[in-house]
Parts: sequence; structure tokens; C-alpha cells
Amino acid sequence: MNDNLHQLRCFGCGERISGSDARPDFRCAQCGDLFEVEYPGWSQRKGPDRPNPGALKWLWRERRCSSESLDQSGVWRFRELLPILDSFGNAVTLREGNTPLYRLTRTAKALGIDQLFAKHQGMNPTGSFKDTGMTAALTVAKERGFEWVACASTGNTSAAMAAYAARAGLRSLVLIPEGKIAWGKLSQAMDYGAVTCQLKTDFDGCVKVLTEIVNRERIYLLNSVNPYRLEGQKTPAFEIAEAFDWTVPDHLIVPGGNLANSSALGKGFREMRELGLVSRMPRISVIQAEGANPLVRSFAKSQGTALEPVEAHTRATAIRIGNPASWRKAARAIQDTGGWCLDVTETEIAIAKAELGAEGLGCEPASATTLAGLKKLRAEGKVGSGETVVLVLTGHTLKDADYTIDFHRGTLLNEQETAGHETEIEALRRNAMAVEATPAAVLAAMKGSAG
Ligand code: F0G
Repeated sequence: MNDNLHQLRCFGCGERISGSDARPDFRCAQCGDLFEVEYPGWSQRKGPDRPNPGALKWLWRERRCSSESLDQSGVWRFRELLPILDSFGNAVTLREGNTPLYRLTRTAKALGIDQLFAKHQGMNPTGSFKDTGMTAALTVAKERGFEWVACASTGNTSAAMAAYAARAGLRSLVLIPEGKIAWGKLSQAMDYGAVTCQLKTDFDGCVKVLTEIVNRERIYLLNSVNPYRLEGQKTPAFEIAEAFDWTVPDHLIVPGGNLANSSALGKGFREMRELGLVSRMPRISVIQAEGANPLVRSFAKSQGTALEPVEAHTRATAIRIGNPASWRKAARAIQDTGGWCLDVTETEIAIAKAELGAEGLGCEPASATTLAGLKKLRAEGKVGSGETVVLVLTGHTLKDADYTIDFHRGTLLNEQETAGHETEIEALRRNAMAVEATPAAVLAAMKGSAG
């Protein structure tokens, strides 16, 4: 970890500390808030540490042709903007990032928008956006000589952490809420050799237990309270700007759970603007599930200045979080950019997920909140037809195959949730059929489902 180029600044009271002085739970000793990584050299207009935008754009593009593993990573390709390591040679990478930006033509047409894209973070090595943050923070753990790393998780963080720990030869401890994470994610933690504990509590309860553990034992905490996670997770912002040739889209829509991803993307765009890589920031809107919507409530009650935890319920288990750690940072990203924070129902999530699937872009339910949210914003006139919108799809569809199968079998939503949406849902459902093993029967099945 390189303490010469970066420092940590408390988001609450502004206290600055060196990276090596962070407490095991990454909370500020003065006020208990979270830290953010800061690069003092960037604030000097012409200092030797201030990156040169033109040179960087050229360098980053050149690296796309390189065969070096560091250059092939979509995180470390941008390493000049995350100088947190002692040596970049230490980076533990699975060639994360460089995820595709897909155009969504049919959905755009249905919504009356010209330019709609999906940045598919589910196309990362372990199938979620968490890999971009994990390569950064796990490398810091390795540089600091930790033998154990740990996280509390709704599934994806644990999958990513377990994989990167295994690559680095570190042991990993995973705390997950029993029965409340998707099987695909649980299987990954096992496959990558993590010590996996299913606790009889929810995600927020797992966080509490783990905080006590890291305060007691020398174990490196890899939840997103760890500010180095966000340094990796800000890099998709660079990829998006690069894909638009260093203009930025008008609007970025992100799912909200523990609220680190929206915070990190906001930081990425803010830093690019401060360094002169882009001239403005996109609006950043955060979408939560209706049953796990503490930030939405916070905006309704206090304009995002205070947050009351809720007991979270949603089938989008990735974002089943009632007491999000990074809510202040996310609130700033929304406020700084003129974005919105809203929630969507279980039915809206299920329909949006099936619509994305029908465009050939499978994602997990939490990711589909973005499209469900966009539909609402569009209906409320908050997104104009001429705007360029990017949905951030955070996880791969195979993470939670049960959800998809239940939807198509018609067993996902209850009667109350389906009421009023029957036609829409029926048009999207594609259940597997039991068909006799003859060409005639298969052809009849095909004809029966045409249209
Ligand atoms: N989408 C997916 C697929 C996720 O796994 C998560 C969070 C989010 C969205 C929300 O992102 O927390 O940064 O607001 N998953 C965490 C985990 C909490 O443990 O895997 P966030």
C-alpha cells in the first residue's frame, strides 16, 4: 500500500489519516463515519503527480493491445488514477473489467428513448461488479501481509473475495445470511475454498458480527466500508467515458443495496471531471427495491441527510439490505449530479428482468431494478427522449437461476403481485415444455409458442 501518493479522508468530519493508520473496521476514530481515498498531488494544478488527461487517454487505449496481465485488467489499465499500491506488480488480477456496453434497441424503442445502453458488469470473472473492487482491496491486504480476509455478503462480494483470495494464496472467511442468498453465489464461495458461515440473521446482522471479529483478530475486512474497494469500483466510470469518446452519457442508473457502487461511480466521474478528462458528470440515479428502500425513505423525509434502517425484504437478495453503510456517499453522488433515488416493486423488477433477458442480456434481479427505475423516471418525465442513458447491470443471470425459472414457470410472484400485470407477464413468460421425443411434437410446440 502506497502511503506517499494517497491518504484517507473521513467523509463525515474531514479528518485525514494515512492509509496504514486506518482502524480494522475502517471507521473514523473521531466520528465513526467512512473514509474516502484522496490523492493530494492531484489538487496542484501543475504538480508532477497531477495526471495529464491527453496522455492518459492515449496510454489507456494503447494498453488495450498489450499482453501484460496488468494492462489487460480493466481496473489496472487505469492505474494512474488509483495509485494505492506499493508496486503494481503485486496486483492480484483475474483480468476484471473491460466489460461490454450493449445498446438496448428494443427497450429504447418501447420507452421512446434514442440512446439506451447497458454496462454489463455481470461479465466480470466471477459474474459481478464486485471483482473490480476486489482486485484493488485484496491486493492492499496482500501488500499489508494479511493471511486472512473476510466479508459479510449477500453473495457476490463473497464470491469475488473468495476467488481473489484463492489467487493470492490467502484464506478467506465469508459470513452470509442463512437461506437468503442465491445458490450460484454460495457455490462460488465453496468452489474457491472460503470458510463459509451461514448465520441465522440477515446481511446487516452478519456485518455486526464481522465488525466485532475484525476488531479482535488480525483479519482484513473486505466489505465496501474498505475505501480501497471503491477505488476499483470507480473504474467502470472511466470505461463508460472512454466508450463515449470522453463525452459522458446524460444519465447513469445504478441499483442500490449497501450503496457503495453508486458512490464509487460518482467518485470516478467526479475525479475525471476534476482532472479534465471529461467536462461534466452524468446524472446518477439509484434504484432500490421497495422492501429494502432506506435511502428512498431518507430522501423523502430528510433530503438524504439522515437514514433510518429498515427491516429489508426483497427477492432481489443481492440488495436485501436495511442499513446501508455507504448511504452518505451515495446521497452525495445523487445530489451532486441532480439524480434521483426511487424504489420499484417486486413485480416491476421481475418484468424488467424478463425484458432484459428477451434482449439477450441476462442479469440478476437486483440489476433489473435499473430498467424498472428508468421506466418510472421516463413516465414521470424525468428522462427526455433525446437523452443518453446507461443502465449498470451488476450481476450475471446465472447467479440466481432459480429466480428466472420461477418467473417463467409462473411461480415467482403471488396473486396480489401479478394483479393488473397479467398480460404483460404472460407475454414475457417462456416456460420449458415437456414434449414427446418426435419431430412432429417439437414442431407443434414451436408453432404453439410462436409470436
Ligand atoms: N447488484 C448486485 C448484483 C449486488 O450483488 C449488489 C450488492 C448490488 C447490486 C448493490 O450494490 O451494495 O454497492 O449498493 N451486493 C453486496 C454483496 C452487498 O454482498 O454482494 P451496492
